Amino acid sequence: MTVRIAFVGAGGIASNHFGNLEQIPEAAVVAAYDADPARVAAACRRFPSCAGYESFKKMLDSAHFDALYVCVPPFAHGEYEVEAARRGIHLLVEKPVGVDLARAREVQHAIDSAGILNSVGYHWRYLDTTALAAQALAGKPVGLVLGYWIGAMPQVSWWRVRAQSGGQAVEQTTHIFDLMRYLVGEVESVYAVGSSGLMSNWPNYDVDDASVVTMRLRNGATASITSADIAPRGTGTVGLQVYSRDLIVAVMNTGLKVSTPYHTEETLPAVNPYLLEDRAFVAAVASGDASGIKSTYADAVRTLEVTLAASESMASGRVVPIG
Ligand SMILES: NC(=O)c1ccc[n+]([C@@H]2O[C@H](COP(=O)([O-])OP(=O)(O)OC[C@H]3O[C@@H](n4cnc5c(N)ncnc54)[C@H](O)[C@@H]3O)[C@@H](O)[C@H]2O)c1
Repeated sequence: MTVRIAFVGAGGIASNHFGNLEQIPEAAVVAAYDADPARVAAACRRFPSCAGYESFKKMLDSAHFDALYVCVPPFAHGEYEVEAARRGIHLLVEKPVGVDLARAREVQHAIDSAGILNSVGYHWRYLDTTALAAQALAGKPVGLVLGYWIGAMPQVSWWRVRAQSGGQAVEQTTHIFDLMRYLVGEVESVYAVGSSGLMSNWPNYDVDDASVVTMRLRNGATASITSADIAPRGTGTVGLQVYSRDLIVAVMNTGLKVSTPYHTEETLPAVNPYLLEDRAFVAAVASGDASGIKSTYADAVRTLEVTLAASESMASGRVVPIG
């Protein structure tokens, strides 16, 4: 079966999906809509089978497709997913699934009611090193989790505007919060502090320069995830370290490190997790079997809840309970 795919949002991450879908013979990109017509034109130059549309509604009404990739910035999520779900179109939604928890729950309700297949772009879950980390941690009680996304500021303008991106923890470090939930467990409560002022030369910048989010996990572990966008370009500390007794499992952007007393074993990823994510989704749509999808919409909403709780805590100075 050919899986006919449409895109809403045809910018940076959509281009990454395009490159993957070109390697998946069962996938055909047949339609695209973006608020920027130049992006639509570029997508359709890349795929001869692709028709470009000047409105999402026209695309929904005119094009025939099985699945929709929603690759818009965080603030633009909601309506596209609900309309597609109502028509029984399967969804791959980029992370984070929004900046508004109530809206994300409405989308979740629409997805559940329609019974469509759904996947969210938490690609760290598809790393072979993540699977090895899960194996190393199986049955081990966790005492401490330390996570990081410390890097330079992304270049897309919407990222710097809190109302559009949600800020770094919500938009970017969300991968690390999600990985923690995936490998270690659910969050019970959140307390966070943030600071800003170092990046005020950037226009329209109102997100935090740095934040530290302290969490109690339901299994009793203590967790801390730090974000910062002030590091020099070309540097970066990104990943998650999980501590058990006599064991550290670190899933980092530089690879996996598993440390036991006087011994550390390092493994580099041998897979492209983005490609595996796209393969899993296309295979699910082709077969109706969702078992290869590692991040569902409902699961991603729980990650959003944690990161939005961190924003709430930064604003109020209070501990925010989850769930
Ligand atoms: N999974 C990952 O590792 C990963 C990596 C990068 C980006 N992302 C996510 O993908 C999303 C998009 O990021 P990007 O880097 O592609 O951004 P981008 O700015 O490069 O692309 C976004 C596109 O959406 C279009 N757009 C904006 N508002 C729209 C609207 N209301 N309707 C239709 N189109 C609209 C823009 O014109 C642009 O072409 C973000 O949520 C980001 O977090 C995920």
